[in-house]
Parts: sequence; C-alpha cells; structure tokens
Amino acid sequence: MTKARPVPWSGLRHATIARRRHASPCGGVRPGYICAGEHVRTAPSGLSRVCAHAHVRTLYPGHMAFTVAVVVLKGGAGKTMTALALAEAAAEAEAAATLVDSDPMGGAVRQAALAEETGRPMRSTVMGLAAVDLPKRMGSITPGADFVVIDGPPPGALKIAKAVMESADVVLMPCPARPGDLDRVPATLQLAKDVGVPVFGAFNFYKKNTNNAAAAEELVITYGVNMLDTRLIDSTKVAENYGLRPRGLVARYGRELLDELTRKAAG
Ligand SMILES: Nc1ncnc2c1ncn2[C@@H]1O[C@H](COP(=O)(O)OP(=O)(O)OP(=O)(O)O)[C@@H](O)[C@H]1O
Ligand SMILES: [Mg+2]
Repeated sequence: MTKARPVPWSGLRHATIARRRHASPCGGVRPGYICAGEHVRTAPSGLSRVCAHAHVRTLYPGHMAFTVAVVVLKGGAGKTMTALALAEAAAEAEAAATLVDSDPMGGAVRQAALAEETGRPMRSTVMGLAAVDLPKRMGSITPGADFVVIDGPPPGALKIAKAVMESADVVLMPCPARPGDLDRVPATLQLAKDVGVPVFGAFNFYKKNTNNAAAAEELVITYGVNMLDTRLIDSTKVAENYGLRPRGLVARYGRELLDELTRKAAG
C-alpha cells in the first residue's frame, strides 16, 4: 500500500486567513471582509470612525481551496507558463488542482488543449473564466479543488486583474529579470495592496552574472518586492514547453515554486 504524501498546503488556508488580519483606516467593513472584533472609535466623540480592528477576509461559500493568483500587469512576463507549471506541480503532488484561465484570449486553455492532443494531458483541471465577478463564482467553478491557480489576464484587463486578486489567498508575480520589464511592478503591488492580498515575486528570464540581472535585483529591492528564491532562467527550453505538459526545467520550477510559496504563504 502506498503511503499518503503529506499535502504541503493542508492547514494553510487557516494560517493565511489568520494572517490577513490587518488594522485599516476605513469607514466600515470593506466588501469581502468580515469584522473580527469591535470597531474602535478613536475620537472621544465617536465621530471619527477610524477603524483599528482586525478585518478578516471572508471565504466564499463552497470555496475552500488555497488559491494563488499569478499576476503582473505586464505582457509576456511568463504568467501563463508559471501558472501551468504551478498547477501541474500541485496535481503531481496529488492535490485536486484547478487552473482558472482569466485571460480573455484563453492562452492556458489553448495550451491544455494542445497538451491533450499530444496524449500527455495536463494533470490539473484547466478552465477558462475571464469575469469581473470571479470571486463570487469561485466556489461553483472549482468544486472539490483544494489547490487553485488563476492565470492572470494581460495588462489591459485591469478589472479582471483586480477580480483575480480578490479571489486569491496570495499573488505570485513573475518578474522578468530585465529592468525595462519591471516597470509595471509598482502598479501590480499597489493593486494587491488595495485588495489586501500578499504578494511574492519570482524572477523569470533570469540570466546569471549579467548587468540586467544585477539591475533587476536592485530594482525589486527598491520596489519592496518580497522575492522568492525560486527563479527561472531564460532558456529556449522553456519556450519549447509551449502546448506540452510541463517537463524538465519548467516542471522543476513548478515544484520549487509550490514548495517555497506554500511554506512562505503560511508565514
Ligand atoms: N524563462 C523563459 N525563457 C524563455 N522563454 C520564456 C520564459 N518564460 C516564458 N517564456 C516564453 O515567453 C512567452 C510569454 O510567456 P507567457 O505566455 O507565459 O507570458 P504571459 O505573461 O502569460 O503573457 P500575456 O501577458 O500575453 O498573457 C512564451 O512564449 C513563453 O514560452
Ligand atoms: Mg498569459
């Protein structure tokens, strides 16, 4: 009899919810959040409703999966490749993994269909849903899933990008290791901050010992990005994975991401 492997993200959702408590200067409970304590009125008159209590993000009914949104407001950064690699790694680790493709052009769905044709289909369930009410629909579109990856949309679709972040426990932001391609990082961080979801960055297109890599590493520090150690090199072997179930260095990248992200997201 094979021994069940420990699922790295079991208990993670609880930890993530607990960590989401934050004091926020707001005028009440924000949509999608529940109040975990008493409102504290800081002004003696009680008129200044500065709120210092903990807000806890609500769970949407039926949606209990740990959810990673792969988002950066930059095109061609490797979102789809990363989302497919991560979902594949989770499925390989025996999770009921679902990938939600929020790109209206359906890049991940297309790649899953191509992989199917090769006779080596993706092991995760891949489905397309580019909708601004994604948070409400998560429970019904991912029933039974315990690990969900959402492939973020291209940069123009801001409302969808926000909905994707609102549906997630954590944002994974692929960062091309080229300074010129990091220009949308601050806007991505700001969007995540507005939504109240933590962000981890991971370098992609990384070329060791180059000026670009050194400059990109300095820039992400300036931007205050919480970078993962896991990174993916710039290689034609990555592009050759297009339309295939992730293998070789892409599969390895997915496994390393899954391990580091789930450990760090649990705090
Ligand atoms: N590390 C890498 N080395 C070489 N090519 C890569 C690497 N990462 C991604 N690519 C290639 O770059 C292209 C863009 O990647 P991908 O489609 O994943 O980006 P994206 O961020 O999803 O783009 P979009 O914003 O259009 O959705 C693809 O052809 C992919 O195979
Ligand atoms: Mg894409």
